Amino acid sequence: MSKIVYAQQTKYLESLRNENDELIFEIEALAKEKNVPILNWNAADFLESQILINKPKRVLEIGTAIAYSTIRFARNLKKNCIIDTIEKSKDNIKLAKKFIKKSGLSEKINLIQGDALKVIPKLEHNYDFIFLDADKEDYEMLFHYSLIVLKKGGVIFVDNLLWQGYAAAKSIPEKFINSTKHIREFNKLFMSNDFLKATLVPIGDGVGIGIKIK
Ligand SMILES: C[S@@+](CC[C@H](N)C(=O)[O-])C[C@H]1O[C@@H](n2cnc3c(N)ncnc32)[C@H](O)[C@@H]1O
Repeated sequence: MSKIVYAQQTKYLESLRNENDELIFEIEALAKEKNVPILNWNAADFLESQILINKPKRVLEIGTAIAYSTIRFARNLKKNCIIDTIEKSKDNIKLAKKFIKKSGLSEKINLIQGDALKVIPKLEHNYDFIFLDADKEDYEMLFHYSLIVLKKGGVIFVDNLLWQGYAAAKSIPEKFINSTKHIREFNKLFMSNDFLKATLVPIGDGVGIGIKIK
C-alpha cells in the first residue's frame, strides 16, 4: 500500500493495470513473501515508458535485489542494448540469477556482483540511463559516482525520495530517523545540483529524475 498516493487512487490505478507477464507477478509475490523491497509496480511502469522514450544504449542499475526492475527495464531495451546491474547481497544475487534466466533476457543483462561503491569507479562504460536504488546511507556517494559515468543529456532516476511519506512527515518512527535524515539531505543535494535539471515525481515511493545538462 502506497503511503504517498491516497488509497482510493492506488486501488483505481490497480484496476487499470495492464500487465500480462506471469514472471513479473511471480517476482512481486516472492518480494512480498521475503520482504525484499522492490520498485512499486506503477513507478516501474513509468520507468519502462522512460526507457522507451529515451532509448538508452547502456543502462546502469545500482541495486538489483531480485532483478524485478532489471527485467522490467531489459524487456524494453532495443537489440544490442545492455543493462549493467550491481548487487552486493549474495542471497538476492542467487534469486536474481534464477529470475534473469527465466526471463530469457540474459543477453541484455550484465549482473555485477559487489559493492557499487567499489564497482562504479572501475566501470569501463558511460551511461545514457542510470537507476539508483540502493542503501539510503550510500545514496550521496553513489550519486556523485553516477554523475561521473552519466553521459551529458543522459538521465538518472532515484527511487524512494519521499521515503514512505517520512521525508515530509513531522513525526518519524525511531527506526526510520536515520534513513529519513539521509533522504532529506540527499533531496536537497539532488534538487539543487548545477549539473542536473532535476525534479521529484510523487509516484510509487517518490522518484527523482535528473537530466544531465552540463
Ligand atoms: C531497494 S532494493 C533494489 C530493488 C530493485 N531495484 C527493484 O526495484 O527490483 C536495494 C538493493 O540494493 C542492494 N544494495 C544496497 N546498497 C548497495 C551497494 N552499495 N552496492 C550494491 N548493492 C547495494 C541491496 O542489497 C538491495 O538488494
